[in-house]
Amino acid sequence: MDLERILFTQGFGSRRQCRALVADGRVSIGGAACTNPDMLIASDMLQFFAFDVDGVSWQYREKAYLALNKPAAYECSRDPQHHLSVFHLLPPQLAERGVQCVGRLDQDTTGLLLLSDDGAFVHAFTSPKKKVPKVYLATTKHPIDEAQLSALQQGVLLHGEPQPIAAVSAHRRDERLLELSVLEGKYHQVKRMVAAAGNRVEKLHRERIGGYGLPADLAEGQWRWLNDADLAMLRQS
Ligand code: URA
Repeated sequence: MDLERILFTQGFGSRRQCRALVADGRVSIGGAACTNPDMLIASDMLQFFAFDVDGVSWQYREKAYLALNKPAAYECSRDPQHHLSVFHLLPPQLAERGVQCVGRLDQDTTGLLLLSDDGAFVHAFTSPKKKVPKVYLATTKHPIDEAQLSALQQGVLLHGEPQPIAAVSAHRRDERLLELSVLEGKYHQVKRMVAAAGNRVEKLHRERIGGYGLPADLAEGQWRWLNDADLAMLRQS
């Protein structure tokens, strides 16, 4: 693949913009500026290909998989209505190459958000048929009692849903701190389930998706690439 096309696939703009980026000497490989947009990289070397654009290092990735520690007051939409978009927390190249949220979190929900430009991956983690457990920590308004835990475990009927929805598990971590694991990704699901069980969510945080937990060293607002081991953990449900 030639350098112009590599930059194009990685989100550095149109083919023409990528060509200009190289011609203008803004791209370097192995520390040396490369001004030839037609330079070829063998396809079996692409997975190891690293380059710098304006002094920022990039690694070629056929598909992008990332984890973001979402802060409150960010919307999971490219076209946010009332707050900033989570895409403001990422380099613009990622949005340009078509990265999208793998399921959405409400603007006031914090924690683990996955993003990818791999349609099959997004589908695997959002399709109602492919049930992946998601673990949330909900701070509640009132103390959590046994009747509420039991209602969440047995299933609660949510407005507009034909059947009750049950949590995979519901535990009290503290008097007003509920750990809830759910399979679905319905609109405001956790808040509605907790309300249907007779309590109210005041704060919500997603801690885990499948076998992948939010890394303890990923600060709020920060993101990182997922590696093969992370992807394997995610798929362990
Ligand atoms: N359930 C909710 O109510 N909100 C979220 O953001 C995620 C799950």
